[in-house]
Amino acid sequence: MALPQPTVLDVDTGLDDALALLLALRSPELDVVGVTTVAGNVALPDVLRNTRYVLDTAGAASVPVAAGAAAPLVRPLTTATFFHGPHGLGDIDVSEPTRAPVAEPAAQLLCRLAAEYRGQLTVIATGPWTNIALASRLDSEFAGNLRQLVLMGGAVTVPGNVTPVAEANTYNDPEAAHMVLASGGLPRLIGLDVTLQGLWRPAEQEAARQRVQEQAAADPVARLAVDLLEWYLRADLAAGLAGSPLHDPVAVAAAMWPALFTLEPRHVSVELASELTRGQTVAAPEGRRERLETRDGQSDVVGVETVQPNCQVALKLDGDRFVEHFAARLGLL
Ligand code: RIB
Ligand code: CA
Repeated sequence: MALPQPTVLDVDTGLDDALALLLALRSPELDVVGVTTVAGNVALPDVLRNTRYVLDTAGAASVPVAAGAAAPLVRPLTTATFFHGPHGLGDIDVSEPTRAPVAEPAAQLLCRLAAEYRGQLTVIATGPWTNIALASRLDSEFAGNLRQLVLMGGAVTVPGNVTPVAEANTYNDPEAAHMVLASGGLPRLIGLDVTLQGLWRPAEQEAARQRVQEQAAADPVARLAVDLLEWYLRADLAAGLAGSPLHDPVAVAAAMWPALFTLEPRHVSVELASELTRGQTVAAPEGRRERLETRDGQSDVVGVETVQPNCQVALKLDGDRFVEHFAARLGLL
């Protein structure tokens, strides 16, 4: 088996971020060497507390946790307590962790590890991409230094989840999303296009809860996972979905099980100007767009130009196999 990939998760923990952390920590394909935090599903102090709680529960208290951006680059923060609970982990009573975050800010830690592990580091961003944008601003070689950058966010071929056209992470910080897609390195875009194909349904939750209740020796990761999934599923069913899209765990899966995915290179732009369509991720069809010229206050189509891809968009996921692997790794099968 190949050596584990040194990996940093950039999270806004959040229920599905917590599940993504557990999946990464339980997977021999990945070696989690750091976790960076960003405000998103809840405010940064809650994200920091939740993240350390999850790592401590999984026996990963030695993994450094860094504080990152407390707000998007330009806009006010939009949290999502309906889906994630008042403090981000449903109704779980999260004790205050004893250890402090590291002193190094998230963007600096990302740049330092990318340089130290040049060409080998995997970064998986599952919150708004603010820290990734700040890292690219801090070091223009950041993206190029990575083995792979996996971004959860966007909705290229399907409707959005926050608005009819925008997904939560790109909606929350569209300016950061724009910067990250302009930074090079052909990141993988794991958007709603595929995360809606990886649903955790009531039957799976029932089976997992039973299995955890029957376990003689309690597996703390499995217990935590079932509790996280309980609130998450209830909220998604209340929102009219048939199950819970495992958004952030799907992004972790993309880093370690690429064979489950179909990806295509595309040029994706992020809407920044309109409030109605803010954060929409728009792909140039067939990599072409019309070239407009404006003269005397009037525009004219003067040709068609090709646009180079700036990311690889995930379009298909083998959802059944993903959910099976996910449940097995978390001790839910
Ligand atoms: O749209 C799904 C994304 O928004 C996930 O990362 C979820 O945690 C929320 O941040
Ligand atoms: Ca998230």
